[in-house]
Amino acid sequence: MVILAVESSCDETSVAVVRDGKEVLSHIILSQIDIHAVFGGVVPEIASRNHVVHITRVFDKAITDANIKIDDIDLVAVTKGPGLIGSLLVGINAATTFAFAHQKPIIGVNHLVGHIYAANIEHDIKFPALALLVSGGHTELIYMKEHMDFRLLGTTKDDAVGEAYDKVARTLGLSYPGGPIVDQLASQGKDTYDLPRPFLDRTEYNFSFSGLKSAVINLVHNAQQRNEAINIPNMCASFQASVLDVIIEKTKLAATNYNVSQIIVAGGVAANKGLRNRIFNEIPEKEIIIPSMEFCTDNAAMIGAAAYHQYLLKGALPNYLLGGDSTLSI
Ligand code: KG4
Ligand code: ZN
Repeated sequence: MVILAVESSCDETSVAVVRDGKEVLSHIILSQIDIHAVFGGVVPEIASRNHVVHITRVFDKAITDANIKIDDIDLVAVTKGPGLIGSLLVGINAATTFAFAHQKPIIGVNHLVGHIYAANIEHDIKFPALALLVSGGHTELIYMKEHMDFRLLGTTKDDAVGEAYDKVARTLGLSYPGGPIVDQLASQGKDTYDLPRPFLDRTEYNFSFSGLKSAVINLVHNAQQRNEAINIPNMCASFQASVLDVIIEKTKLAATNYNVSQIIVAGGVAANKGLRNRIFNEIPEKEIIIPSMEFCTDNAAMIGAAAYHQYLLKGALPNYLLGGDSTLSI
């Protein structure tokens, strides 16, 4: 089954052609990061306008690069949420128009389900599985009994991990998106600042990162008032150590208690090198799969991967309507 998949939930305009949920025939990601970096974060209105400007070209390139004819496409899939509403609408309109014009069935895919299924492109998800979903907007532990069966075990009570990374980076005067830069600097520093490990001692699967973020902001402001310098690599290393201590421990707790066969690490923060290094060492008793970097941050291939299993189980919707549960967190 050849799926044309579309993702436009935030600031990446992406279209991919994926065969049977696995074989990525083409994968185009047009990032707007440079445009938003000057504002220190994604500006929703600018994001949706840029999707409008570029999406047709991205469709064309994905189809050309896949070396297929439009006739070869069996299904169109598009991210239906969660995400920035203006950005989502551009992808949804483009995908529904394409599907209508070419008489193709279409399905709407949850963005978070897409992040999880990114792991199924190069690996095979084994059930029961535990997904640690860490991105700019979400921090969740999800139990999967089988394909497309999700049970939320825990989530953040305030900031998402990626959001905390980006805000800490901004406080340290680093550019947007801060996650990759903090990750890079952390590898050059040492864990010397005393930062909290929120919720670490609780036997629950929820997270909290706003207190940790505030602790960094307070240390930086106090240092500024005393005219003292902050050692930026050491602060990045200390912040990253706190985050990883918490998310790895909670993942280990849930994986043990639910006796899962496999752990999936997904979402933009799954690109974190510190996380990728530590989690295999600290949970050696479980098989852990992580998508390669290309499929960690927002991309359409993951939507195609998820769409395949969703279609097999639930089919497409009639009348080209997407309908349904786009506001569901998972
Ligand atoms: O999944 P994603 O592309 O978009 C959302 O759905 O949110 O995730 C983006 C987030 C940003 O907060 C970014 O700073 C973070 O992922 N991120 C990282 C790394 N690469 C991206 N955070 C920590 N370390 C990284 N290497
Ligand atoms: Zn995402």
